[in-house]
Amino acid sequence: MKKIAIIGGTGKEGKGLAYRWAKHGHSVVIGSRSVEKAQIAADEINALVTGDGKDKVVGLENSQAADWCDYVVMTVPYEAHADMLCNLKEIIKGKILIDVTVPLVPPKVHLVHVPKGGSAGLEAQAILGDETPVVMAFQNISYERLFKENDIDCDVLVCGTSKQAREAVLELVREGGMTCWDAGPLANSIVIEGLTSVLIYINKNYGSREAGIKITGVNR
Ligand SMILES: NC(=O)c1ccc[n+]([C@@H]2O[C@H](COP(=O)([O-])OP(=O)(O)OC[C@H]3O[C@@H](n4cnc5c(N)ncnc54)[C@H](OP(=O)(O)O)[C@@H]3O)[C@@H](O)[C@H]2O)c1
Repeated sequence: MKKIAIIGGTGKEGKGLAYRWAKHGHSVVIGSRSVEKAQIAADEINALVTGDGKDKVVGLENSQAADWCDYVVMTVPYEAHADMLCNLKEIIKGKILIDVTVPLVPPKVHLVHVPKGGSAGLEAQAILGDETPVVMAFQNISYERLFKENDIDCDVLVCGTSKQAREAVLELVREGGMTCWDAGPLANSIVIEGLTSVLIYINKNYGSREAGIKITGVNR
């Protein structure tokens, strides 16, 4: 079983991902600036999971969580993204970073914002350097969907620096009960991240909360 740490895992998206991987039986650590808050979130998820995944989630401070794991998942708001990566850079060297961040600018989160570095993913790679592969995933899947009991009926696009790292993340996404696609190198994160604002706009316009994407025309 894999060791996954979720930085900022006390938030909506992080808890949803923790739930999916704990259900699969992986060991998950919720990271937070506060160990107490992390443990409360871990207890919430443990209460939802039955069977092999029961009590697989614990809470730690972010840097301890990052040190413990093999896979580091980043689920913090964009405004905290660069500082968090700088703080964790040495600890996560050589591990795969699975970055879920979208460079939204509140309050107009339904408008695409292209950050200075091109995308949150490209900015993460620039901060971490070549030794730490960055893979972007889950930008287009709302936290509400992650808490569904069964497999999720929308797709996850995965892009990142190395094919090998993308393959490892694709396996983790499938284990979370989601269909996923290798969407190529990290530069493609510009579009994948931007698509999130399009989905938020669609949610707003059509009174929904769970707009997602599905790739057609390819053998599943
Ligand atoms: N929500 C969604 O449906 C969704 C979908 C796709 C992608 N995303 C992306 O995933 C990321 C997380 O989304 P979310 O909705 O889970 O966010 P969130 O609930 O607003 O925040 C997640 C966690 O980040 C930590 N955090 C907040 N401000 C911080 C700061 N200044 N410095 C350090 N840590 C801070 C907090 O943890 P502690 O207080 O415990 O430290 C918080 O619980 C975002 O980049 C978002 O765009 C979200």
